[in-house]
Amino acid sequence: MTGAVILGVGGSLPARVVTNDDLSARLDTSDEWIRTRTGIRTRRWVEPGTSTSDLAVDAGARALRSAELSTVDAVIVATTTPGRRCPAVGPEVASRLGMIGVPAHDVSAVCTGFLYGLANAVGLIASGAARTVLLIAAETFSTILDPADRGTAVIFGDGAGAVVVGAGEPGGIGPCVLGSDGTGADLIQIPAGEDYFRMHGTEVFRQAVKRMSDVALDALARTGLGPDDVDHLVPHQANQRISDGVARRMGLPESKVLGNVATVGNTAAASIPVLLAEAAADGRIKLGDRVLTVAFGGGLTWGAGTLVWPDVTADFGILGER
Ligand code: UT7
Repeated sequence: MTGAVILGVGGSLPARVVTNDDLSARLDTSDEWIRTRTGIRTRRWVEPGTSTSDLAVDAGARALRSAELSTVDAVIVATTTPGRRCPAVGPEVASRLGMIGVPAHDVSAVCTGFLYGLANAVGLIASGAARTVLLIAAETFSTILDPADRGTAVIFGDGAGAVVVGAGEPGGIGPCVLGSDGTGADLIQIPAGEDYFRMHGTEVFRQAVKRMSDVALDALARTGLGPDDVDHLVPHQANQRISDGVARRMGLPESKVLGNVATVGNTAAASIPVLLAEAAADGRIKLGDRVLTVAFGGGLTWGAGTLVWPDVTADFGILGER
């Protein structure tokens, strides 16, 4: 069977930084509460008029540049915030990247969107339907937050990350282990007929630590590996306390856990590729490192997978800047 490897990595964040003090000026919260309960110090929000597609196009262009490609065989966009119910943003993003005619679709798995998308991309390659796939995960959660809800308004940020996946030697991208439990659909949702995102934070927190550590260990076992073989854990950036709890439950030392929730907040589907792009660009992730990614989110959905870091130069930056 054809293996899949990462050929390029990109990430894009909006320019506007929102601090905890900015939020506590209008909400009953404090910098101290947000920092100690979540680890978040700042997040980035788009300006009005900037869409998820704008961030997706920038991250996608950066990943294509990183891969030294101008086109691919398929485009997938993972997002919770397409900005409209219909149609999907994938075709728009593909066309804006100069790929009119290329198959493009969206994946909806909330914070696990990147890993569901990665499984789709690897599957397209394994089946022979594509040799190269651009997978972008992009979110503008700031557009669906209830500004009066301190339980969600302080947590989420906007951003986009992307990878180009290509056919290659087996072992570059390990098997993605995915799961779901729709009986928990009401824990993270935009209720029918409403505009704003709602979350039962405490119950989500409890399930996240258990599900993420279990599925991460499962993904390792399916690759014949154990926690000692991992160089970096790249967990979905929901809350620093969740990342710490997952690592503790897996028996991984803190030094192996990568994170950027402090500066970008929870960017939902985008959080894993944004962290991969940032950590590869600043040298924390290096050629040959074994990376374990894991996520949990609305649906409920969860997933994990391993990567052996390829010889790529990540292109990570701010929307509107080169
Ligand atoms: O992205 C994938 C899915 N999302 C997640 O994984 C997020 C998971 N959940 C969490 O990260 C945490 O549950 C939160 C950060 C959302 C909340 O932290 P918590 O430690 O679970 O707090 P809590 O919801 O149990 O609330 C504790 C107290 C409550 O006050 P009382 O009832 O004890 O008086 C809340 O009303 O903290 C209060 N509270 C706040 N206080 C100040 C909740 N949000 C805030 C806030 N500022 N922003």
